[in-house]
Amino acid sequence: MPAHDFSPVPGHTHARVLDSDGNPVITTTGLTKVYRSRGREVTALDGVDLHVREGEVYGVIGQSGAGKSSLIRCVNLLERPTAGTVTVAGQDLTALAGRGQRAGKELRQARSRIGMVFQHFNLLSTRTVRDNVELPLEILGKSGKERSRKALELLELVGLADQAGAYPAQLSGGQKQRVGIARALAGDPKVLLSDEATSALDPETTRSILQLLRDLNRQLGLTVLLITHEMDVVKSVCDSAALMENGRIVESGTVSELLGTPGSELASALFPVGGAATGEDRTVIDVTFQGEAATRPVISQLSRTYNIDISILGAAIDTVGGLQVGRMRIELPGRYEDNVVPVGFLREQGLQIDIVGEPQLAKEGAK
Ligand SMILES: Nc1ncnc2c1ncn2[C@@H]1O[C@H](COP(=O)(O)OP(=O)(O)OP(=O)(O)O)[C@@H](O)[C@H]1O
Ligand SMILES: [Mg+2]
Repeated sequence: MPAHDFSPVPGHTHARVLDSDGNPVITTTGLTKVYRSRGREVTALDGVDLHVREGEVYGVIGQSGAGKSSLIRCVNLLERPTAGTVTVAGQDLTALAGRGQRAGKELRQARSRIGMVFQHFNLLSTRTVRDNVELPLEILGKSGKERSRKALELLELVGLADQAGAYPAQLSGGQKQRVGIARALAGDPKVLLSDEATSALDPETTRSILQLLRDLNRQLGLTVLLITHEMDVVKSVCDSAALMENGRIVESGTVSELLGTPGSELASALFPVGGAATGEDRTVIDVTFQGEAATRPVISQLSRTYNIDISILGAAIDTVGGLQVGRMRIELPGRYEDNVVPVGFLREQGLQIDIVGEPQLAKEGAK
C-alpha cells in the first residue's frame, strides 16, 4: 500500500478528540456544505465535527476534493454553511448575519480575529510589502501612524523588515508567503487558518515557512488550523490531525493518540515502515514505541520467553509532531492464531501493536 493511500478503512473509529487539557478554540458541529450549481448538487462537507484546542497546530489532510478548502472557508464564514455551527473563540459565527463580502459588522469584526493565509499569497502587486500588510489595518480603521508601526513590527516578526519598501514582484515565493502571514496577523488574531500555504513552494522554503508558523504558534500562543495534502507538513508541525474523505472526518486526534490507535490510517501514513512477509505462514506485526517504552528490550524478552525466532523486517525512529517515536516491523513464525499469546505479551508491555494486513484483528486484539 502506498504511504499516501487514504482509502477508507471499513468501520474505522475516531481517536479520542478532546481530553481535559486545553479549551476548544475552534469547534464545528454537524458542519454541512452543499454547493448548488447548474441544477447539480455537490455535498462538500457532510456533517463535520471539528475540535481544535487553544494553542495547537491542527492539520487537516485529505485528497483533492475531500472538502478541505470548503471546511476552512466555512470556519471563517467566507462560505455560509448549509447546516451546522461554527464557534471560534467562544463566538458562534453562524449566528452572525451576512456572508462573503456582504458580511455584517459583527461578522467582519469576528473575522478580523481570524487570520487567513492562502496558497497563492493574494498580495496586491501595486502596493509595497508594507502597504500590503497595512491593508487589513486600513479596513479596521487604524490611523496612519498606528498602521505603519504595526506593519513594521509584523514584518520584523516574519523576518522581512528589510523588504518593507519592495513590491511583491521583487520577492521570492517564500518571502511573498511571509508577507501573506504578516498581513494575516494584522488584526492580532487568536486563530490562523492556512489553506495549502506551502503548496506553491519548494521543499526548503516549505520547511522555513512551517518553522515560522510553528514559531508564531509558540511565541504568540496562536492556534493554527492548517489544510494540506502533504503528509510531511502534518508530520513536521502538527500537534493534532484529521483525515478528511468525501466531506467527512474519518480519523482525528492528537498525533500521539493517532499513533496509539490500532489500524489508524493517519498513523501509518505519518510513520510508514516497510517490509513484507518472507513466507506464507508468518505473522507480521508493527510495534510502535512512544516515550519510555522505547528503552526496554522487549523484543529480546519476547524471543526468550516464547523461544521464537523474530525477524526484523524494517524499523525507523523519527520525530512526529515533536514526539520521539519508534516503529519496528517484525515477523514471527506461524499464523496469527499461533501467535496470540506473544502478541498479548507485547501489548501488555504497553506497546502499540498492529497486525499487518489484518486491521480487524488488530482492533479485536486491542479491546
Ligand atoms: N464554489 C463551488 N461550487 C461548486 N462546487 C464546489 C465549489 N467549491 C468546491 N466545490 C466542490 O466541493 C468538493 C470539495 O471541494 P474542496 O475545494 O473543498 O476540496 P479540497 O479538499 O480543498 O480539494 P483540493 O485538495 O483539490 O484543494 C469538490 O467536489 C468540489 O468540486
Ligand atoms: Mg483545497
